[in-house]
Amino acid sequence: MEVQVKIRSVQALDVFSLVQVKKLTWPDEEVRQSQVEKVLCDPAHAAFVADVQGTLAGFVDGFFTHSAQGELRWEVDLLAVHPDWRGRQLGQRLVDACLAAGRELGAAFARTLIQTENTASQITFERCGFQRRPTVLRLFVALNDKECSPPAAGSGRLLTVNTFNYSGLWLEEDYSERSLVAARAACCQAELDLVGALVIQANLVDNGKMSELGFTEAGDYQWWTKPFLESQGISWSGKWHSGGK
Ligand SMILES: CC(C)(COP(=O)(O)OP(=O)(O)OC[C@H]1O[C@@H](n2cnc3c(N)ncnc32)[C@H](O)[C@@H]1OP(=O)(O)O)[C@@H](O)C(=O)NCCC(=O)NCCS
Repeated sequence: MEVQVKIRSVQALDVFSLVQVKKLTWPDEEVRQSQVEKVLCDPAHAAFVADVQGTLAGFVDGFFTHSAQGELRWEVDLLAVHPDWRGRQLGQRLVDACLAAGRELGAAFARTLIQTENTASQITFERCGFQRRPTVLRLFVALNDKECSPPAAGSGRLLTVNTFNYSGLWLEEDYSERSLVAARAACCQAELDLVGALVIQANLVDNGKMSELGFTEAGDYQWWTKPFLESQGISWSGKWHSGGK
């Protein structure tokens, strides 16, 4: 018998099941139901679930940010399919629904950050029309240790984001020591969970220094992107700045 799968917007009643799928997918990570609820109330987000005859089999979240050039970006963030339901292209169907929401809301392009060794995710996003950007970026994360240093000025861009995992800052454009210190201070002042910075190898303040500044390595990633506005004659500049996640 063929099972009926419905891809639909997430509802408040889905939170418990969504958290269960998230725990199964990333068993080593802490999951805060309150954080998921916070995201669902954030108007910048559109989250979807795969509903298999009343069972939540997967989810994806998307949200807006702005690039330094003022373009509206649609960030396809956390995607997960319950291990029992993998291999049925539910990931693609979730991403397609999320893309449709971003396109409808007027984003210039969609992007997602994929770990260099995450083959299942790469195949999924490629099938949804995303292209891999060549630059490999190293993710560094600094958790808020709640010992705030005085506010400082840096020249990096700081974006405040809410995800299913955390509320935090993404540092973009400048990864000098000054900007890293300023980002940590801002995160502490705003009582957020963490700062993420995606650093191109060539721009890396040395690894030891990153750790002195409170940043821990969290793997190598690449941006995958999909323009929305080609058909309207708006061309993509071809420049993708590294961001943080
Ligand atoms: C990414 C994910 C959502 C895709 O779910 P899905 O739609 O069920 O897709 P699958 O897991 O079947 O993987 C997609 C394809 O990659 C293939 N694949 C998976 N792992 C692979 C590997 N290690 N090497 C080669 N191919 C692989 C699958 O066979 C499938 O191809 P097929 O359709 O031709 O059989 C799911 O794998 C998942 O939840 N992964 C863990 C969470 C995650 O990594 N999320 C994305 C980052 S936030």
